[in-house]
This record gives sequence, structure tokens and C-alpha cells, in this order.
Amino acid sequence: MAQQQKIRKAVFPVAGLGTRFLPATKAVPKEMLTVVDKPVIQYVVDEAAEAGIEHFVFVTGRGKGVIEDYFDIQYELEQMLRERNKNAELTLLAGLLPKAGTASFTRQQVPLGLGHAVWCARDIVGNEPFAVLLPDMIMSAEKGCLKGMVDLYAQTGGNVLAVQECDPEQAHKYGIVGVGDAVGEGFKITQMVEKPAKGTAPSNLYINGRYILQPEIFKILETQERGAGNEIQLTDGMLALAKSQEFAAYPFKGDTFDCGAKDGFILANLAFALQRADIRPAIEGPMKALLASLK
Ligand code: UTP
Repeated sequence: MAQQQKIRKAVFPVAGLGTRFLPATKAVPKEMLTVVDKPVIQYVVDEAAEAGIEHFVFVTGRGKGVIEDYFDIQYELEQMLRERNKNAELTLLAGLLPKAGTASFTRQQVPLGLGHAVWCARDIVGNEPFAVLLPDMIMSAEKGCLKGMVDLYAQTGGNVLAVQECDPEQAHKYGIVGVGDAVGEGFKITQMVEKPAKGTAPSNLYINGRYILQPEIFKILETQERGAGNEIQLTDGMLALAKSQEFAAYPFKGDTFDCGAKDGFILANLAFALQRADIRPAIEGPMKALLASLK
């Protein structure tokens, strides 16, 4: 088996407007909304770190400065914690901070679409395969989604997308893949269809927001025309890349929460809170009572 080039860098496109979460996103980027006690973006960065990512590339935009501040030392706060002997809190903060020089921030001045946001990272990524993680999709599983993809990539090379089952009735809302020959824990992708018309989807496996891509995608995105929603779409770029390169799928076994939507965000809060031994006992009973009280 050929030795694959290591996936060292991950791109987090965080420049979207987050209109589905207005009015909150008028003042707070959706990536900074908290699931239990951590901002959504922290879950995704943790997933990348677990997969061996060494450099975190954030494509930010107007009003997203707080994300950059979040991944920095808060000197006054830490000084105060030190003076008050809050050592557990200090350790927690230190553990979440990317090492100096391992986080880069670039700016997408106009939110022209996900494909354009990824293209904005081209100089920082350079000529090597890289990961893209949509920061509003957070996942819960024993083995992180990106870790599973990196393991599959070690066998397949090329491009790898994570996919997950959806209700076939809902397939028209997603990017759906066609299923080819099995390879390792995954399979070869035969086709990709963005939001297929009802009843025409090649499977019920949707692309869930995690990608490993070869750097040739940048050249394609540079001239990619606007597609659905009048935005420069990553899917259109991948379709063009698929003409010359292989794409494999990693079927992710776990839960995915779309925290860019209100229902997904609320479910994520409930799911992650119920996984916490320090929180579950306090909320389980009241949650059941609340549900029972609803007509
Ligand atoms: P979404 O379509 O979910 O994000 O894009 P959005 O545009 O922020 O959300 P709504 O639909 O208005 O509520 C998927 C991801 O791509 C990023 C978003 O930040 C999100 O993480 N994105 C999207 C960009 O970085 N730039 C863009 O131009 C568009």
C-alpha cells in the first residue's frame, strides 16, 4: 500500500452569516454559541486534534473576531484565576488552547459561499491534502469522525468524504452519494448529487460536513462559477475534481447535530448534557416531568 501524505492541516470555514440563527447571530457568531459549556467551534477543533491535525486554519469574516480571541490567552482572566487559586479552571483553559503558531486566521471579506471560503485558505494550506470541517456540524461518537476518515485515507489516498444515513424521505435536502465498491471501512463514491429531486437519490447517505481533499481543488475553486443559492459551492468544485480523482466515503457511525439550525442546536445541548455525569442527574427528572406535562 502506498504511503499517503499525512493530513496535517484542517480548514474551518466560519465566515457564514448564520441567518438561520437570527437574532442571536446579530451579535454572536453561531460558532460561539455554547453547547453545554463550550462553544460549538471547540467541539470541532477537538475532533480535528484527535485526528492528528497539527495546524488549524480559520476562515473568518466580519463580526467573527471573537473566535480569534477565544483561541488566544486571556491574560487578565488567567491572572485573576491564579490569584484565586482556581487551578482546575486554569488547567482546563490551557488544555483547550492551540499551541503557539498552530492556528491561522484568514478572512473571507464577502461570504460568497462555502467553496469560496475554502479557496480563501489556499495559501495557508499550500500544496498538500487537507481536511475541511464544517464548524456548525458537531458529532458524538466513540471514534471521532475525522479520525475515522484519516484512517480510511491511509488506505485509499485521494479524497474522502464522511457520509451518514438520513431518512430517505429527507434525501432531497442534502448532498447524496452513490455507493460503489467497498474499500477498507468505506466505499468508493460513484456519484455526488446535491439536493436530488424527490425519489431520484442514488442512496440515503448524505455528506455530513467533513472532507479530506487534495490541493487540486483550489485551482478548480478559483474559477468556480456560482451555483445553488447564487453561492460558490464546494460540492460543484468536488464534482469537477471527481472527473480526474477518486473519492471514497467513510460511513460515520455516531450522531451528528446541525448546530446551524435551532432544532439541531437544542438537541446537541440535550445530548451532550445527558452524557455528562455532573449534569445528567440534575436534569433527567425535570426533563421527563417537562415532557409529561406537555399536552
Ligand atoms: P451554511 O450555509 O450552513 O452557513 O454554511 P451560513 O450561511 O452561515 O448559515 P445560514 O444558512 O445563513 O443560517 C456552511 C458553513 O460554511 C461557512 C459557514 O460559516 C458554515 O460553517 N460559510 C458559508 C463560509 O465560511 N462562507 C460562506 O460564504 C458561506
